Amino acid sequence: MLKGKDLISINDLSSQDVSGILSLATKVKKSPELYKDELRGKSLALIFQKPSSRTRVSFEVGMAQLGGHAIYLDETHIKFGSREAVKDIAATLSRYVNCIVARTFLNKDIEELAEHSTIPVINGLSDMFHPCQGLSDIFTITEKFKDPKKIKVVYIGDGNNVLHSLMHGVAKIGLDLTVASPKGYEPKKNIVNEAEKSVKITVLNDPLKAAEGADVIYTDVWVSMGQESERAKRLNAFKMFQIDSRLMSYAKPKCLVMHCLPAHRGEEITDSVIDSPNSIVFDQAENRLHVQKAILMLLLDK
Ligand code: CP
Ligand code: NVA
Repeated sequence: MLKGKDLISINDLSSQDVSGILSLATKVKKSPELYKDELRGKSLALIFQKPSSRTRVSFEVGMAQLGGHAIYLDETHIKFGSREAVKDIAATLSRYVNCIVARTFLNKDIEELAEHSTIPVINGLSDMFHPCQGLSDIFTITEKFKDPKKIKVVYIGDGNNVLHSLMHGVAKIGLDLTVASPKGYEPKKNIVNEAEKSVKITVLNDPLKAAEGADVIYTDVWVSMGQESERAKRLNAFKMFQIDSRLMSYAKPKCLVMHCLPAHRGEEITDSVIDSPNSIVFDQAENRLHVQKAILMLLLDK
């Protein structure tokens, strides 16, 4: 039962919760008109400390398609944590709206918001996690492969928020994951350990070895939002980790390419790969909408 719960990390969900989200998302994607009044009269506040296209638009459009309403509060309006205490924002918004999506720098700020809210709080990306992305990504993988347990999925790049949620996501559906990151940029060990309770996570430092025989290769930016001061150092550390046609030649010929977007073309991925017929990056982006509609309906279950 997801009713009334927060969604801060996929690790907090049971496998049944995740299969419930994926199965409702499948129905919503197939017949959106059946759900057009599900959240009539409900409101969602979106608190964003960082920029967003997909997360903001898919939540706003998703609420509208379900008959509800969304209010976007960016940093200039909310001044998260400086204009007033996080717990006061939580208490106030709990009196006005039915759910909050928050994109913050620090995951602990989302935890604090959730602790002091009487309504569900959804993590719209923090330094540690991007659960809505991770859930959409496992939805996309299961949509593309009849038996996902038989495929090799590889993430090449930064051991960041997107990878952490992908690891939690694959763990919920019994899919092993191979990761290749430069030394010092691997995913957090405690999160690898959490995922390894259910699946095998292989962490390497050699992107070509990781790519061998892959059915899916996933990447994300080398410089995440908030890490701009590390840009030069990161570009140097990641330069052998670009998803280009040479790296793709190590994977299976039909290997699909995933990226959560926004992509920094010419850095972590080349134009020829992201624009190739094997790229499913816009299917991923579209699925954010369907999966988040399912999440909203389940958390706000009437
Ligand atoms: N993938 C993703 O969350 O995109 P935005 O940053 O544009 O929301
Ligand atoms: N890792 C990226 C993901 C953006 C959706 C970031 O945090 O900026």
